[in-house]
Amino acid sequence: MTTDEPTNAWDADGYQDGHAFVFEYGSGVLELLEVDPGARVLDLGCGTGELTAAIADREVCVVGMDQSEAMLETARETYPKLQFVHGDARELGVDEPFDAVFSNAMLHWVPRADQGRLAASVRAALADDGQFVAEFGGAGNVGGIVGALRAEGTERGVEVDNPWYFPTIGEHTSLLETHGFEVVYATLFDRPTPLEGGADGLRNWLEMFGDSLLEAFPADEREEVYAGVEERLRDTHYEDGTWTADYRRLRFVANAV
Ligand code: BEZ
Repeated sequence: MTTDEPTNAWDADGYQDGHAFVFEYGSGVLELLEVDPGARVLDLGCGTGELTAAIADREVCVVGMDQSEAMLETARETYPKLQFVHGDARELGVDEPFDAVFSNAMLHWVPRADQGRLAASVRAALADDGQFVAEFGGAGNVGGIVGALRAEGTERGVEVDNPWYFPTIGEHTSLLETHGFEVVYATLFDRPTPLEGGADGLRNWLEMFGDSLLEAFPADEREEVYAGVEERLRDTHYEDGTWTADYRRLRFVANAV
């Protein structure tokens, strides 16, 4: 694991209750997954298991994998009949190959420097005609939010780095092609995403996902930073009592070759 990995203390209950859009929107990318009944499917970064359960509904044998024990505990409680395991996507090393690997909203948490290792690890975990289907943050994802944090940092003498991997289609599909995949579909699209929580929606999002973005700021300045970011984004990201995050998604289907 590299040291510049975006870290996050995952709050599984908050994720399920206040940020359900993460898996609700994920149902679109699920439609790209082509699997026959009985197939073996790995759900990488399964979180609290909602999409793992949707995959299981297709009568396949699905395994949900996540790095967060808190998420896995909630997934196991919610879906006791399903299999959830702890693991690192960069080091899958499976005994029996999977027919498909699926991933929603996880790949951007893996540092750019580790993306090749991740692609190779997924390829090695797949059967020769297996399918890798994923959606995650693409180039420009949450650019407004990151920009506002950066501006706030500049004003306070603090440097804020974008901790996530948000590639262009060209960058990511090239990477897949050099690691044993043929990319048969890729798209990058805007998906403005209303945040739950009314006037607190943006700070809730930052508290849930923004540990790495916020770590540069002293803890006792957090409230002022939230207020400053809200002020910077109010005209563009807030309307009728709802904050909207400027999400951009990259979706792809890649076949193992
Ligand atoms: C995303 O799903 O695009 C995302 C979520 C949390 C932080 C950054 C990006």
